[in-house]
Amino acid sequence: MENKESFVIEGLAGKKRLKGTVKVNGAKNAALKAMAAAVLFDGPVCLENVPETDDIDTLSKILAKLGTKIGRKGKTLTVDAGALDSTSVDSELAGNMRASVVLTGPLLSRFKEASFPAPGGCVIGTRPIDLFIAGYRKMGAVAALDDEDRLYKIGAPGGLKGAGIFFDKVSVGGTETLMMAAVLAAGRTVLKNCAMEPEIVSLAGWLNACGAKIKGAGTPTIEIEGTAGKLLSPKKPYVTIPDRIEAGSFLILGALCAEELAIEDCEPGHLESTIGLLRDSGVPIETGSSVIRIKGNSKPASSFKPVLDLRTHEYPGFPTDLQPVMVTYLTQVSGESKVFETIYDGRFKYVEDLKKLGASIAVMNPREIEIKGPTPLAVLPGDGELKAHDIRAGFAVTLAALAGKGTFTVGNVNLIDRGYERLEERLIPLGAQIKRVVL
Ligand code: EPU
Repeated sequence: MENKESFVIEGLAGKKRLKGTVKVNGAKNAALKAMAAAVLFDGPVCLENVPETDDIDTLSKILAKLGTKIGRKGKTLTVDAGALDSTSVDSELAGNMRASVVLTGPLLSRFKEASFPAPGGCVIGTRPIDLFIAGYRKMGAVAALDDEDRLYKIGAPGGLKGAGIFFDKVSVGGTETLMMAAVLAAGRTVLKNCAMEPEIVSLAGWLNACGAKIKGAGTPTIEIEGTAGKLLSPKKPYVTIPDRIEAGSFLILGALCAEELAIEDCEPGHLESTIGLLRDSGVPIETGSSVIRIKGNSKPASSFKPVLDLRTHEYPGFPTDLQPVMVTYLTQVSGESKVFETIYDGRFKYVEDLKKLGASIAVMNPREIEIKGPTPLAVLPGDGELKAHDIRAGFAVTLAALAGKGTFTVGNVNLIDRGYERLEERLIPLGAQIKRVVL
């Protein structure tokens, strides 16, 4: 269904007029995995600090279709997979959110079977699931793609067995999913070349508190001693860690649009690379234990330095999810920046929108761009509305509109809603002129 909601934004024309405090929500990319992990439990689990974003709703719907009972009270979600009676992930819903592939791990581990639609293209690049399938096969499962219904059917009639698995490519979802699959397997699993994102550490910590035996999360090698089918007990609620991508997005927004901004309820230690890059560029940033502050940011963005060679990288490197937002920033600083996207092969689609506003960006190839700044950002006559291409590109063009001059329209706000909870309601108290409208 086409979504007609748009943001109408009155730009600040480069003036740093936003001011105040913004609170960071729980990380949707952490909460999604904890929701999937609920399948490993012998009773209802309670997840706290879960953001109210559309991706969380989509996974709730997928889990409900499998027979799981889901309840929400404010930021607390209860997931009871006790009566789960299907192992086939809904194709249409999974098409809206590729991350739902993480469900295959816990399903296979508990029910010895799972099916998942073969992924089509994704707006940020090709996103295959070969690492998941290869891992399951190592654990003794048989996996085949059914050509008729385009479903991967995966079965392990004797149950999953512990195995040594080397990831040819570092994958956040692959690491989390195989880790969850191994929790109920028979024997020991050793995962190598793992992703080290804080969301993985958080998931492992919670599973361990509920009876799993996982060692090494947050390092490249994770060892899991399987329970041979015995389900975990919900001894502790899962408390979702702060969303580092949301915090980083607000930080970059503050660098361009605010003289003073406090970003609260975050974990500055999860954003070292981003904070370091912005400081080197000239942004005055202070950090506390759960707060990042922009202070005395009165000079124009044109006084900031470019980033000569910015490369996205797995954690703790600079996150791909902040790449589009950072590119908007770099259009406003003085000098030439180069950005190299190492994780995805299609994450520069939003560049056309920034160029429409006057940004000087050359796309060298699908993974590399060069930006010359500063260029004023403004709506050119007859150029219509900007579009959110994905969650993060949506934030990037919203930021361009806020920093630019004139009245801007950002369409496809539903994509921004997938990852940022009611963004406009959180920016208005800072002084932003942003309205959600149905066009
Ligand atoms: N990949 C493969 N084969 C696989 C799995 C992944 O080739 O079987 C490739 C991907 O195509 C990609 C790379 O490996 O090029 C890394 O993908 P990864 O598996 O690490 O990403 P993910 O787990 O699917 C999560 C976040 C993304 C974030 C990436 C990278 C969730 C729900 N999603 O995706 O978040 O970009 O890690 O950090 O956790 C977002 O929030 O906007 C978002 C896209």
